[in-house]
Amino acid sequence: MQISNFPVTPVEQSRLSQVDFDNLGFGSIFSDHMFSMVYEDGAWKNPEIHPYRTLALEPGVSMLHYGQTVFDGYKAFRGLDGEARIFRPDMNVRRLHDSCRRLCIPIMEVEELLEIIIQATRQLIALDHGWLPSRWGQSLYVRPLVIGTEATLEVRAATSYRLMIMTSPVGSYFTNLQKGVSLRVEDRFTRAASVGGLGAVKTAANYAASLLPGFESRQQGFDQVLWLDGNEHRYVEEVGAMNIFFKIDGKVVTPPLGGSILPGVVRNSALTLLRDWGIPVEERRIATDEVVEAFRSGDLQEVFGAGTAAVICPVASIGFKGEVFQVATTPPGELTLRLYDQLTGIQYGKLADRHGWNVRVPIPQSDSVMVQ
Ligand SMILES: Cc1ncc(COP(=O)(O)O)c(C=O)c1O
Repeated sequence: MQISNFPVTPVEQSRLSQVDFDNLGFGSIFSDHMFSMVYEDGAWKNPEIHPYRTLALEPGVSMLHYGQTVFDGYKAFRGLDGEARIFRPDMNVRRLHDSCRRLCIPIMEVEELLEIIIQATRQLIALDHGWLPSRWGQSLYVRPLVIGTEATLEVRAATSYRLMIMTSPVGSYFTNLQKGVSLRVEDRFTRAASVGGLGAVKTAANYAASLLPGFESRQQGFDQVLWLDGNEHRYVEEVGAMNIFFKIDGKVVTPPLGGSILPGVVRNSALTLLRDWGIPVEERRIATDEVVEAFRSGDLQEVFGAGTAAVICPVASIGFKGEVFQVATTPPGELTLRLYDQLTGIQYGKLADRHGWNVRVPIPQSDSVMVQ
């Protein structure tokens, strides 16, 4: 496919003036335009940008019944210099490609998918630049989604699909940085199978499996779930939408990518920075017993999550088997804050982007300026 600018049907009336940028929340406001293309008769075709709108789907579409759907998520930031920056979209597109393969979606070659999604994202940002928030901590969340669109009740891969990209201005998670989050260790339900399941890809089933434990955690006064392995419920895996890190006696430990946890982009970025800084890092299994022991001996120095939504988020407490371990009384810890500052500094163009992580998109300078 020849990829230059995709054809655009602009909105007749922008909804931008209705947006309250002081109360964005997460993911309930969608920008004026979206991208879509379809898979029919064995080929991906008809890429276009058009107004954000409802989908017409038959109730018999198998995706609604059997969950053949994958997605990903990354963010664009309004830089201090007025230029927009997309943070590491290549990693998300590669992960989306893996997700498609695992869900038997006939996706194009990864290089073509990269070109299409990054070009579409650039075009959406250029077109909807006014939707890019202008406060530190806020950003434009980009959500690619692929769904099967064939109406059939047979359990098999669909013969038609739609790939969409929507964007959503989202608020700051800054309060989390000062308060930290509380986690409840889930030792009854499992997010994803330990071997051979869907845990390493971004598909609806994993999030559906997380809803009841998430609800129960909140009922018990915790913010999020800390998942354990599906075999023994003994080793730590990840949090609802974040990978997890423990700083124990000067070393940083995070669970390895073994197929059951999501290979997070922020996890990868944090590991890269920690290694740059010469901080000892171990990607290895970590049992709940080890975490409890480190807490009791005073060696557990910091716990933090890493993910696109919150970037780096301190963990203030962990509930496990009826006990609550107060791991931080005054978050964020020193290393948590250093990582947060470095990553957000790169994302907003305040610090040098030494690893070439940002994809830059020029936007009109007349827009509101970035406020720190
Ligand atoms: C289950 C899960 N783990 C980890 C992450 C963090 O991944 P990333 O850093 O790519 O956002 C996410 C968010 O996408 C997630 O949903």
